Amino acid sequence: MDEITFSNTPVTIVAIGGGNRTNKYLEYAVRHPERLQLVGIVEPNPLRRHALAEKFGLKPEQCFEDYKLFFRNPLKADAVLIATPENIHFEPCMLAIEAGYHVLLEKPIARTLAECRAIARAARNKGVIVGVCHVLRYHPYFIRIKEIVDSGELGQIISINHNAAVGIDRMTHGYVRGMWRREEITNPILISKCCHDIDFLLWLTSSQCRKLTSFGSLRWYRPENAPAGSSDRCINCPIEPSCPYSAVDLYRTRRDWISNFDVPEGATIDQVIDRELRTGPYGRCVFHCDNDVADHQVIAMEMENDVTISFTMDTFTLDDQRQTHIRLTQGEIDGDERSLRIRWFRGAREEVLDFSSLIGTPYHAGADLNLIEDFVHTLACKEHNFRTSIEQSVESHRICYEAERSRLTGQTIRLDD
Ligand SMILES: NC(=O)c1ccc[n+]([C@@H]2O[C@H](COP(=O)([O-])OP(=O)(O)OC[C@H]3O[C@@H](n4cnc5c(N)ncnc54)[C@H](O)[C@@H]3O)[C@@H](O)[C@H]2O)c1
Repeated sequence: MDEITFSNTPVTIVAIGGGNRTNKYLEYAVRHPERLQLVGIVEPNPLRRHALAEKFGLKPEQCFEDYKLFFRNPLKADAVLIATPENIHFEPCMLAIEAGYHVLLEKPIARTLAECRAIARAARNKGVIVGVCHVLRYHPYFIRIKEIVDSGELGQIISINHNAAVGIDRMTHGYVRGMWRREEITNPILISKCCHDIDFLLWLTSSQCRKLTSFGSLRWYRPENAPAGSSDRCINCPIEPSCPYSAVDLYRTRRDWISNFDVPEGATIDQVIDRELRTGPYGRCVFHCDNDVADHQVIAMEMENDVTISFTMDTFTLDDQRQTHIRLTQGEIDGDERSLRIRWFRGAREEVLDFSSLIGTPYHAGADLNLIEDFVHTLACKEHNFRTSIEQSVESHRICYEAERSRLTGQTIRLDD
């Protein structure tokens, strides 16, 4: 981060959506109340709404159940944070722009390219900032890659292999049983999960995509692949003890991916898990969900500066991180978020940077807090620009939507037409 200038009064923000992401970003307001102040919360879930109101000392008139109610009588604030499910991004974002707020918008921007473009256009016309939460641009490991490439010491990029490994638990929790399982509710997985990766690749290459082609499908999590004798809920399934996708194993035994389960007053997390396993969406057999998003996908891209990129999204893996291999004219860089190896062709010199201590550390290794700090800094200081413009974000989303078109039609798509 460069030198930060803040005004004497904090930037004021209203959070629309009071779930996981909002709580992460609002940690910044807890740590720096003199820079950022929460002045309103819009959240239909009373447990979440009350918890945030209590934490930030909000009065009832600062709390709303739904964004439509809020925008009928908007509060005075500099900005809104929109961290709702992705089918509820477009409308609140357009209303926020119309009302003159700056917006910090969780990715993906919206659900169609036309909606993404409409948001960019409205922001431009109104003169407000819409910052999209591309956290990789604020993560120390990815920043280091960008710095090495930009330094020019390894010459020019020729080609990149980038792999987004979506761990098996993340996949079954989020994209088979959970919130991102159906395109009509959210988006294709490439947009929901990998718009970050495409944004990173555009940032890294400082170029635009000229052509792309994509393949992939929902190959495995379908009813016809259910093992003989299995049942539609893990809790009463005879093959559960040996099933790698067991919800009983994931939530009850390993107690993983349970942080977003709401625990009502008077109940325990064990009771919530038990109820989820018996009747909730997260207790369902992975072969008997109503999911339709792909479980593997590849994209081949040719950039305008002739760099070629192969991108893969793999979900049948215990890995849950990104691996990148960049070939440049004077050397190569490869890393997996744990370590980053830099090799120079001349003299076969090698340097390895260790990032393993960052793995699993809170707030995406601090990236979430760096990101909101950048947003606050942008509002507080006219000379400072948010790291990603809405136009750049729309461009990375365009690539994802066009890759989907390629996957579904079998065509190679030209983006420079
Ligand atoms: N940048 C990242 O790294 C990253 C990581 C995870 C998720 N996300 C994105 O962040 C967004 C939110 O994800 P999350 O994990 O916080 O989800 P979440 O379910 O924890 O939170 C979303 C909240 O929005 C609330 N909500 C629903 N309808 C609403 C309405 N009409 N008005 C106001 N609030 C409403 C829900 O009750 C919920 O509390 C999604 O778009 C997701 O894709 C981004």
